[in-house]
Amino acid sequence: MEISPTIFVIFGGAGDLTWRKLIPSLFDLYRDGRMPQQFAIMAVDRATLRNAQVHTRYLDGVNRFSPNGKAKGTDWKHFSEHVTYQQGDFKDPATYAQVAKRCAHLEKEWKVKAGHVFHLATPPAMVGVIPNMLAEAGLNRDRARARIVVEKPIGHDLDSARELTRVLTNSFHESQIFRIDHYLGKETVQNILVFRFANPLFEPIWNRRYVDCVTITVAEAVGIGHRGRYYDQAGALRDVVQNHLMQLLCLVAMEPMVTFTADEIRNKKVDVLHALRPIRTDAVRRCTVRGQYGRGTRDGKNVRGYRTEDDIAPHSHTETYAALQLFIDNWRWQGIPFYLRTGKCLSRQCTEVAIHFRAVPHQSFPPNASQGWYPSRLVLSIQPEENIVLGFQAKIPGLQMLLRPVEMRFRYNETFTRPSPKAYETLLWDVMNNDPTLFMREDQIEAAWRFLMPVLEVWTNTRPRNFPNYAAGTWGPKAGDELIKRDGHAWRTIA
Ligand code: BG6
Repeated sequence: MEISPTIFVIFGGAGDLTWRKLIPSLFDLYRDGRMPQQFAIMAVDRATLRNAQVHTRYLDGVNRFSPNGKAKGTDWKHFSEHVTYQQGDFKDPATYAQVAKRCAHLEKEWKVKAGHVFHLATPPAMVGVIPNMLAEAGLNRDRARARIVVEKPIGHDLDSARELTRVLTNSFHESQIFRIDHYLGKETVQNILVFRFANPLFEPIWNRRYVDCVTITVAEAVGIGHRGRYYDQAGALRDVVQNHLMQLLCLVAMEPMVTFTADEIRNKKVDVLHALRPIRTDAVRRCTVRGQYGRGTRDGKNVRGYRTEDDIAPHSHTETYAALQLFIDNWRWQGIPFYLRTGKCLSRQCTEVAIHFRAVPHQSFPPNASQGWYPSRLVLSIQPEENIVLGFQAKIPGLQMLLRPVEMRFRYNETFTRPSPKAYETLLWDVMNNDPTLFMREDQIEAAWRFLMPVLEVWTNTRPRNFPNYAAGTWGPKAGDELIKRDGHAWRTIA
């Protein structure tokens, strides 16, 4: 599919996101022949830099972070001819006048009207400023061609998210706003809908009659790295639960869409959030667990505790682990618990959705015939393994009737030889194509915040007395296991 000519303006062109993700992804699209014939990338930032300096840094970013390997001489040379740097203060109207002038110049040269993508790869505070400045320069006016891209976190709580929506929608129509949650661009996340709704096999049992509980895990083995300043203000609930985990929940629990169109899918997702049973403040203690890592080990090496990481307050109460039990009050899921957990410095990296099915209604086999028995279970492994695994009982070959669980496994990398595009490649390509399907809509963000507000309030107002409460390199605080165990369930053991 040919994309129309596009001018990509990146605010925060000297920043980390541009270096690590945006330029490597745009370059990978380019070497894959998927950038438009006519395109330009304009990086804007406060630092005074020459084009050549910016090109060198971007090439370094590609060579380090592109999953497709280092850039080859001519590919990079041709690509970098499309990339220019403009020094400018985000609060100065002259910056935007300069952007407008350059856009007009390029369009004159190309003899076409181009799409304008304004990507805000800036600190969150600037997201409150740039949309209005773009509007004052008239860069928002063409609804069909001007788009603005903003990154999570969208707000810090419900009120700030609403304020951000107000700022964005004051200057841009909702159809022009692309809010990135990069999880939605992952192949294995997109495949959840395909798996559920392109196969008649699982949908009839994807409900309270057959499902006992659902567990969703976003576990990270790494700590907070160099992001202490941001993370200490955010914590796991804001950083991952409000967005990535809620997106996975919606995809797993939503009703089938009638058509594969952006708003139809987003309507179905938001219905899930509207059906979440509110967690009242007096229930927060029972339904949630928070944790913070202390000293521990990873791969045999000592790992420091959260409170001694760079830029972290020595008595910080920020959670690096969060687990929740929640219910969806609708016909499909009434009474079925969903357990969500995420954490930094856990035993290993693993994102997965596990559907735990009910046990058979009557056990015909003698209890001592089963070894390590567990009811059927379907695991959608999102990363780093990309698999779908169905666990069920089988007879152990032999003269006796002995049973044990076995697994049927689909592996992406065995079936599809072509590597999956990275999330940002998919998302940037979709922005250029003006396809908002994989982007968050304002009402969805608001509904997720509304649901989590009581938890945030209680966690902010009551200091945890036991932090740090898990050692780096383990599976989190004991209370995280107890949360699910008291209902007779268990997190899947991730080896
Ligand atoms: C980001 C969070 O949104 O997602 C990070 O801010 C987290 O804290 C990251 O590490 C996880 O993304 P991925 O793609 O590495 O699983």
